[in-house]
Amino acid sequence: MKTLILFSSRHDQTKKIATYIANILKNELECYIQNIQNISYINWSQYDRVLIGASIYYGHFSSVFEKFIKTHFHFLNQIMSGFFSVNLLARKLEKSTPFTNPYMRKFLLRSQWKPNCCAVFSGALCYARYNFFDCMMIKLIMYITKGETNGNRKIIEYTDWQKVSVFAHEFIQLQKNKI
Ligand SMILES: Cc1cc2nc3c(=O)[nH]c(=O)nc-3n(C[C@H](O)[C@H](O)[C@H](O)COP(=O)(O)O)c2cc1C
Repeated sequence: MKTLILFSSRHDQTKKIATYIANILKNELECYIQNIQNISYINWSQYDRVLIGASIYYGHFSSVFEKFIKTHFHFLNQIMSGFFSVNLLARKLEKSTPFTNPYMRKFLLRSQWKPNCCAVFSGALCYARYNFFDCMMIKLIMYITKGETNGNRKIIEYTDWQKVSVFAHEFIQLQKNKI
């Protein structure tokens, strides 16, 4: 049996986190990683566990991710599953857990998919990659929340890789407990 890792990512930070987790899981599990946008059909009988990561823009997950969950929640609930959300609010310690991060908390309350383990990771910023409107908006958000507003070309990464690593091992442990 295999593990499927799916990510919904606009500027690749969630993809980077999913790839990092995949590299840890690969030591113990056979796993496949895919962009959720490229999925047209899934043969669920091939997989016994799935991990999904999705980022937040303007307070929302992508519509592709939301549609995927609505379509597949029944299958997701039948296998071991994990979920992580990536956003910038999570760079604040008090908003960095599934219970205290509003995007994750609201998602878990309304979702028909009930993952077995969840995490929230802070993402990254790269002003040079955004269009004019997005750049202005995220600078305003960062200004209000006392974050970095310098629009140089560097990627400003807030992701705590140690926390990602701990979650990856938690996910491995979950499936071991099931066996
Ligand atoms: C235009 C824009 C809007 C964003 N809106 C939010 C938001 O509402 N809340 C939040 O916490 N982070 C927000 N973010 C931060 C992203 O979630 C963060 O950059 C994340 O790393 C994106 O992941 P991705 O590269 O995988 O898409 C926003 C970023 C941009 C560029």
